[in-house]
Amino acid sequence: MPADSRTSRFLLFSVLCLFVVVAFAPGQVRQQVADKSAQSASAPAASAPSPELSKYVGAETCKTCHEEIYNAWEKTPHWKTTLNIKGGPSKQGCEGCHGPGADHVAGGGDKTKIFVFEGKSRQETSARCLSCHGEAHEQSHFAESAHSSSDIGCLDCHSPHHAKEKEFLLVQGQPQLCYGCHTSAKADFAKPYHHRVNEGLVQCVDCHNPHGTATIRQLRSLPSGDAICYKCHVDKQGPFVYEHVPVKTEGCTSCHSPHGSTNPKLLNVMPVNMLCLQCHTFSTTLTAGGPIGPAHNQSAKYQACTMCHTQIHGSNFSNVFFK
Ligand code: HEC
Ligand code: HEC
Ligand code: HEC
Ligand code: HEC
Ligand code: HEC
Ligand code: HEC
Ligand code: HEC
Ligand code: HEC
Ligand code: HEC
Ligand code: HEC
Repeated sequence: MPADSRTSRFLLFSVLCLFVVVAFAPGQVRQQVADKSAQSASAPAASAPSPELSKYVGAETCKTCHEEIYNAWEKTPHWKTTLNIKGGPSKQGCEGCHGPGADHVAGGGDKTKIFVFEGKSRQETSARCLSCHGEAHEQSHFAESAHSSSDIGCLDCHSPHHAKEKEFLLVQGQPQLCYGCHTSAKADFAKPYHHRVNEGLVQCVDCHNPHGTATIRQLRSLPSGDAICYKCHVDKQGPFVYEHVPVKTEGCTSCHSPHGSTNPKLLNVMPVNMLCLQCHTFSTTLTAGGPIGPAHNQSAKYQACTMCHTQIHGSNFSNVFFK
């Protein structure tokens, strides 16, 4: 036992070391290169900053004329950029977003000498944000998202200075933010049976990533690659000895409307026999019957299919999904 745990601790340590090396090595190299070029640039003029760096004045200088904005900004998470020593002045403070400010200051507040977001294309403004957020897991698929390709940018949902929500600098709270553009989703969640999004129990972002994902419909998936539905409906995941094929192949939406439905259990089709018979084509004659048609007829006794086939999502005991 002790040997085992020592081995595994050693393994863990090695993995950690590897992680540290892989994660920080390129940054360090880049930093060294940057340091070198900074040194060589400043070598003749002793400690004078390089011309590139002298274009940055620092957030404290901006504060002298934009005190109100500064004070509000200081209460947002972006104040943390001031600690980004390694990133250098171009990634710090106000200038991390607005670009170098020296000329703007020298011009007494010349608007043409600094990056102003207003009036810029969404592609241009989003690119600014992505210069820092682009590698974060949550935003890494933005470029190929349905939002980005429909010309929706970061500032349609976020505002660094005028956010209406405390969390995440959102211009509006959820789900209203989403409903503003997605009226059919709004209608779905107003149906009698729905995931309780309006009630605050479930959020759009539980299932979707508004920044895009590697899958269709900007749907999130589990780290295993499985459907996001299993995150909350663990009992449906299996694996079962007897899987009901469509649950795994076509997914939950082959029988359920994930937003809302006029049918109980969010079913796409009611009564339930009509749902089943979409695939289990019923026929009284063997020859015309589909390969997966039920053995029994459609007399009233058989119409509520899930009365008998209760374990409809899969079973470990019955190949026809009985209890
Ligand atoms: C995270 C990026 C970001 C940072 C950091 C940032 N800004 Fe902005 N700034 C914006 C965006 C985006 C707008 C457009 C309005 C909006 O969406 O909030 C803007 C707008 C402005 C405006 C126009 C007036 C207004 O209120 O909209 C001024 C002035 C301004 N910023 C100054 C500053 C100052 C000063 C700082 C540092 C204290 C700063 N900004 C830091 C992104 C940023
Ligand atoms: C010497 C005073 C002064 C300093 C320092 C200063 N600004 Fe300004 N800034 C102004 C004035 C004045 C305006 C308004 C210009 C106008 O409306 O034509 C302005 C406008 C802006 C705007 C455009 C606002 C708009 O209406 O669209 C931004 C963005 C901005 N400043 C950011 C900054 C940032 C970032 C810094 C620090 C790097 C900074 N300013 C430092 C005086 C200053
Ligand atoms: C369609 C609306 C929408 C757009 C467009 C959008 N966001 Fe978001 N963003 C959200 C919502 C909603 C949240 C809160 C997410 C949550 O609760 O999981 C969020 C959260 C975040 C967060 C904090 C959580 C995290 O991911 O670490 C960051 C950072 C962020 N967004 C950056 C961006 C950037 C950068 C862009 C543009 C490239 C962008 N967002 C575009 C809606 C949007
Ligand atoms: C200079 C780098 C930089 C730029 C450019 C930048 N951000 Fe950020 N952003 C940060 C940092 C750092 C944080 C804080 C992260 C943390 O708390 O761990 C942050 C946090 C956020 C958050 C999360 C807020 C929360 O409540 O947790 C959102 C949303 C966000 N940024 C949106 C934007 C948008 C929109 C833009 C473009 C207008 C932008 N950022 C530009 C560095 C940047
Ligand atoms: C400013 C308008 C706007 C806002 C706000 C907005 N969206 Fe969208 N969204 C769009 C557009 C436009 C599309 C692409 C066209 C379409 O599929 O409807 C889209 C596409 C999507 C898609 C992919 C649809 C598909 O067919 O692939 C999802 C999912 C989505 N949005 C979810 C959200 C969520 C969740 C929110 C709130 C956090 C949100 N949206 C906020 C405009 C918006
Ligand atoms: C329980 C998970 C879940 C929640 C919560 C959820 N969605 Fe969806 N959404 C899905 C699934 C799954 C699809 C794909 C449906 C399909 O392909 O038939 C989808 C599809 C979409 C689409 C594509 C068009 C459509 O209707 O098929 C949009 C847009 C969308 N959702 C927006 C939203 C918005 C806005 C919210 C919050 C108000 C939201 N969703 C909440 C799971 C969810
Ligand atoms: C964030 C957690 C969460 C996720 C993700 C989620 N659900 Fe749900 N789901 C719930 C909760 C909670 C309920 C109970 C609803 C209630 O009581 O209002 C529910 C209810 C249901 C019901 C109806 C059950 C009943 O008894 O009426 C179905 C069907 C369902 N979910 C299917 C899905 C599908 C399909 C997905 C994936 C597209 C999914 N869920 C994703 C939390 C989630
Ligand atoms: C072949 C059709 C079909 C597929 C595919 C399917 N379901 Fe169902 N599901 C049903 C039926 C039918 C019911 C109603 C059962 C009843 O009334 O006894 C149901 C009920 C539910 C319920 C509520 C009752 C319960 O058992 O908890 C949830 C939650 C649920 N399904 C989630 C899911 C999820 C998550 C998926 C995808 C992993 C999925 N379903 C895939 C047919 C299906
Ligand atoms: C989206 C299509 C689809 C729907 C809807 C569907 N099934 Fe199935 N079902 C299948 C497939 C495919 C198989 C596997 C058939 C095979 O292996 O020959 C299967 C297998 C079965 C089996 C196992 C016996 C067999 O033939 O392998 C039963 C029992 C069953 N389904 C009952 C139901 C019931 C009850 C419903 C309605 C609640 C239903 N199914 C809805 C596609 C579906
Ligand atoms: C009264 C109980 C009961 C009801 C209700 C019922 N079944 Fe069955 N089902 C059975 C029995 C019993 C079998 C045969 C099991 C065996 O062979 O071990 C079966 C077998 C099946 C099979 C698999 C094998 C085959 O040979 O065809 C399918 C598919 C099926 N049923 C679908 C359905 C569908 C669809 C409905 C609703 C229209 C339904 N069942 C309603 C009891 C029922």
